[in-house]
Amino acid sequence: MSTSTMAENSHSPFGTPAPTLSTERTILRQWCPEDLPLFAALNADRDVMRHFPTTLDRAQSDAIAHRLAQHIETHGYGPWALEIPGVTPFAGFVGLMRVGFDAPFVPAVEIGWRLARAWWSKGYATEAAIAVAQFAFETLDLEALVSFTVPANVRSRAVMERIGMRHCPGEDFLHPLVPPGHRMRRHVLYRLDAHELAANKG
Ligand SMILES: CC(C)(COP(=O)(O)OP(=O)(O)OC[C@H]1O[C@@H](n2cnc3c(N)ncnc32)[C@H](O)[C@@H]1OP(=O)(O)O)[C@@H](O)C(=O)NCCC(=O)NCCS
Repeated sequence: MSTSTMAENSHSPFGTPAPTLSTERTILRQWCPEDLPLFAALNADRDVMRHFPTTLDRAQSDAIAHRLAQHIETHGYGPWALEIPGVTPFAGFVGLMRVGFDAPFVPAVEIGWRLARAWWSKGYATEAAIAVAQFAFETLDLEALVSFTVPANVRSRAVMERIGMRHCPGEDFLHPLVPPGHRMRRHVLYRLDAHELAANKG
């Protein structure tokens, strides 16, 4: 197949129309090609990837960005690119993802986040995650969200707790995509039910 034919046939989800969410300081939007180098930089950062099995190279990072953008295009929601107007066009992602592996709590929709180190400790992840949870319950009409990480990921667990999620120790699990015996296999499972967000909003 010639290069031009491949280009004509290959579909890119980048920039396709999708709901955009906004908060006081942030915008959650579909991914665009300009996000790719910034996403690759954060995926290559050992601090950011401390609680994942490995850092990612550019090709791996681009493939994940494509998959996340594709999720948004397919489902109308997903792990949105996080823009902070006046600060940075791309800080990372915050959003929703259908859990794609087998576990006792699946089917489920996960809420998750990954920000470049420069944008930690400013409340951006929590602010965006609250808007995402509201969208999940009020617009998508989901009944519940889950989130999970390794026990040592205290920053991620703190975001979960700040948005009102509760740890369900009885549902902690061995991640099926992490090899048996790997120190990152055990994951803690958090939940947020629709009525809990309403209660948290008071
Ligand atoms: C998980 C992650 C997104 C959390 O980032 P974070 O900066 O700790 O979380 P927030 O953006 O909600 O910021 C909260 C912090 O900002 C502070 N803050 C500053 N200004 C704030 C404001 N206006 N509003 C709220 N909080 C504010 C809070 O006090 C809190 O401080 P702390 O860093 O001392 O705890 C980030 O650590 C990350 O990307 N990690 C790597 C990827 C990862 O592990 N993802 C999860 C996989 S499951």
